Amino acid sequence: MLARVQSAAVLGIDAFTVAIEVDNSAGGMNKITMVGLPDAAVKESEDRVRSALRNSGFRYPRGYNVINLAPADIRKEGSALDLPIALGLLAATAQLEGAAFNNYAFVGELALDGSLRPVAGALAMAINARNQGLQGIVLPAMNADEAGVVQGCDVIPVQSLEQAAAFVAGDEVIPPHRTEVDELFQTAHLRVPDFDEVKGQGHVKRALMVAAAGAHNILMVGPPGTGKTMLASRLPGILPPMSFDESLETTRIFSVCPVEQRKDSLIVTRPFRSPHHTSTTVSIAGGGQQAHPGEVSLAHNGILFLDELPEFNRAALEVLRQPLEDGQVHIRRANYSVTYPSRFMLVVAMNPCPCGCRTDPRRDCRCSYGDVQRYMGRLSGPLLDRIDIHVDVPALSFDELTDTRSSGPSTQEVRDQVLAARERQHARANGSGARYNAHLDTKTLRRYCVLNDASKSLLETALNTLGLSARAYDKILRIARTLADLEGLEDITEMHVAEAVQYRSLDKTVM
Ligand SMILES: Nc1ncnc2c1ncn2[C@@H]1O[C@H](COP(=O)(O)OP(=O)(O)O)[C@@H](O)[C@H]1O
Ligand SMILES: [Mg+2]
Repeated sequence: MLARVQSAAVLGIDAFTVAIEVDNSAGGMNKITMVGLPDAAVKESEDRVRSALRNSGFRYPRGYNVINLAPADIRKEGSALDLPIALGLLAATAQLEGAAFNNYAFVGELALDGSLRPVAGALAMAINARNQGLQGIVLPAMNADEAGVVQGCDVIPVQSLEQAAAFVAGDEVIPPHRTEVDELFQTAHLRVPDFDEVKGQGHVKRALMVAAAGAHNILMVGPPGTGKTMLASRLPGILPPMSFDESLETTRIFSVCPVEQRKDSLIVTRPFRSPHHTSTTVSIAGGGQQAHPGEVSLAHNGILFLDELPEFNRAALEVLRQPLEDGQVHIRRANYSVTYPSRFMLVVAMNPCPCGCRTDPRRDCRCSYGDVQRYMGRLSGPLLDRIDIHVDVPALSFDELTDTRSSGPSTQEVRDQVLAARERQHARANGSGARYNAHLDTKTLRRYCVLNDASKSLLETALNTLGLSARAYDKILRIARTLADLEGLEDITEMHVAEAVQYRSLDKTVM
């Protein structure tokens, strides 16, 4: 007898429909043949399904069984096809029938006792089920929260093969699961420590606020122990809260990661990713044997923080180029080709020289001029080119460090200003083109950043006397635009240009 069960598999952050056809013919030896490009995990499914069927009180199908995974030309990865394969075998041997086979997709990994384990990509699978016009998707209960945000798709959570079979047979009614999205967003209190815990460093905080306001990438340079890491980790707190759409985009990426790497079903706070400098190119860009998103994608809609930048290997930094330019990363391997979104704010921290104390007046730096040049040179040109703001983080004086008064504006105060500035940019873009100043192209930049004569001559003097390169020019305009937005002004003034010039300190020393 021939049975057909609908399921789904993941490619990149999208899911596609997989039809599982099971043909059982009596006689001959007991055998299962699986065709249609299954990977190793799918092939092993045979053993899990065998035990799960027996331990759930079903008969293991005798005779010759052919299982075809269609479409046959795309490789199917992972263990999510266990449940539909088991259900298909039951249907092919007349142990189970029901209309649900026509209206629902089924996914789930089976444990040997027949209980269900969560799968990767449940959110994309639910979206696919809806787009295919199905009524819903039957999946492991642990995936229900993540899939339950999809409108127009009944998410049926099940604990075991037995329960899934009871649902199909109509013996058990399971109400669709809906995730309380509003509640999740309301309780999404930021787990980020407050800005005002960082002593001194007023101008660094200011630079971080400017960066957050215009979505500019930022580089902090300073001796060890001056608060660079501390400040960076507080940055998610001053960014605007995530919108529902942003949350869905980011969750889709986390959703296709291996299940054990995930914590929350729905990502409602901006990610802060801080890969270690020993990270491999694959872990940063994504890819691998089976396609997985890398750090650049896990940071989507949030922050990618590269601490101690010169310690990273060059190849790992090289792969940042594409996501920084396009907001996405393409990965091509022999057996697959995927694209992951990866638009993030890049935050970079480094010491000023190999020993770290070149800019610390209280310590002697032993690095030679050549050492410093080589060290700073590890910031490759293309990467540096994508960073709008450079800021020096000086060593704190004893008085500053021991000051017990609260230091500077709180996270909440800074966030309010950032929000107002972002709304202004949003209104100006009016639904078209780049939303934030950091992403303005040259043409739009010229239109939005008109300088008056005084600002123009100031900028000219600065470019000449400081020897700034031409590429610094556009960046200065972008930052000046953000500075004006922070003040609620439409016109850029000399003050804004003067401050923007200060954020280009490395143009002189490195390039
Ligand atoms: N500006 C500061 N205000 C308060 N504590 C600081 C400051 N700078 C450094 N510290 C203390 O020093 C520790 C190391 O700071 P960290 O941010 O890791 O420095 P860096 O990344 O610049 O090397 C912090 O955990 C904190 O206790
Ligand atoms: Mg540090």
